[in-house]
Amino acid sequence: MSHGTSHLVTNIGELVTWAEGRPVLKGAAMVLDGPKVAWVGPAARAPAADTAYDAGGRAVIPGFVDSHSHLVFAGDRSEEFAARMAGESYAAGGIRTTVRATRAATDEQLTSQVARLVHEMRRQGTTTLEIKSGYGLSTLDEARSLAVARQFTEETTFLGAHVVPEGIEPDDYVALVTGQMLERSVPHARWIDVFCETGAFDVDQARTVLKAGIAAGLKPRMHANQLGHGPGVGLACELGLTAVDHCTYLSGDDVAALRDSGTRATLLPGVEFSTRQPYPDARMLIDAGVGVAIASDCNPGSCFTSSIPFCMALAVREMGMTPTEALEAATRGGAAALDRTDVGGLAPGMSADFAILDAPTHLHLAYRPGVPLVSETWLAGRRT
Ligand code: NIG
Ligand code: FE
Repeated sequence: MSHGTSHLVTNIGELVTWAEGRPVLKGAAMVLDGPKVAWVGPAARAPAADTAYDAGGRAVIPGFVDSHSHLVFAGDRSEEFAARMAGESYAAGGIRTTVRATRAATDEQLTSQVARLVHEMRRQGTTTLEIKSGYGLSTLDEARSLAVARQFTEETTFLGAHVVPEGIEPDDYVALVTGQMLERSVPHARWIDVFCETGAFDVDQARTVLKAGIAAGLKPRMHANQLGHGPGVGLACELGLTAVDHCTYLSGDDVAALRDSGTRATLLPGVEFSTRQPYPDARMLIDAGVGVAIASDCNPGSCFTSSIPFCMALAVREMGMTPTEALEAATRGGAAALDRTDVGGLAPGMSADFAILDAPTHLHLAYRPGVPLVSETWLAGRRT
């Protein structure tokens, strides 16, 4: 069925589709039917369309799928970053600084902050993104954080279990997160998340939070093994999560559990960059048969970048990934981490979400780090 106007994008120097058998095409064209991709193939064999657009020999890639961000916040922690770069270490406790500022902000202030960051992401080629709550940490402030996030994406995540806020005992807080706070957050959320780490929530609390979320109809995901070894990744695999995020410190058993459960490891190299932690070993994970994704983790504390190309360049330089693996992890991998098959590739029937690069090939994304190569971002068949 036609969705309306069809567009031919032709003279594509290189088209990354991830389609079975021919993941990368040279000299390609793509036809869009309304918001969807209708056809991809050699430019010389492209069917007619209502309009034509010349890509000028540039590369076209699927839009990035950023499966992990914390955009709903107020305040600034650049001093904390500077102190870290002067030798202090990162601790989960910094989250409470942002909680104070976020609670004091109006819905309008939070919305305009998210809008600014989403715009920043779009300019850098991100077309699908997940946004978490987690800086409200009260029933009212978590629910309104999620309502703000929902204006920008369907992929919203309730992260009431980010840290225990000031003024409440841990057991009482877990009861609140799994009770009234969950109930008020569910209408605005698709996912539930927990920060399972020393200084945040232990593995039993994490299991309690995720099970309550599942019972309420949310899909579970996790922050685990970011700051040190621990049982978080094991729990993620035991519960059969779609993805577990960070995975910076993994034991041999964790890697085997990820491989056997099919739980995807979402790597967030901007965090290691901004906290001076060791990078996770993506090469070892891929060679072990573990699916990986790359996401930004854009947040005011551990990593304030919105740039997926930057994260990809780090993954290539510091984590042993090839440039093509890094692009796949930031597109199809991110989609898989969000349990989505309609985005993250450019095959017929998928959403027409893509970036046109000022470059002849996707290899330039890691080859030319720090250079703004995304010249156009198209979302559901429209240039943004
Ligand atoms: O993903 N790990 C927990 N949460 C964030 C950091 C939050 C903060 O420092 O404000 C993260 O790194
Ligand atoms: Fe995070």
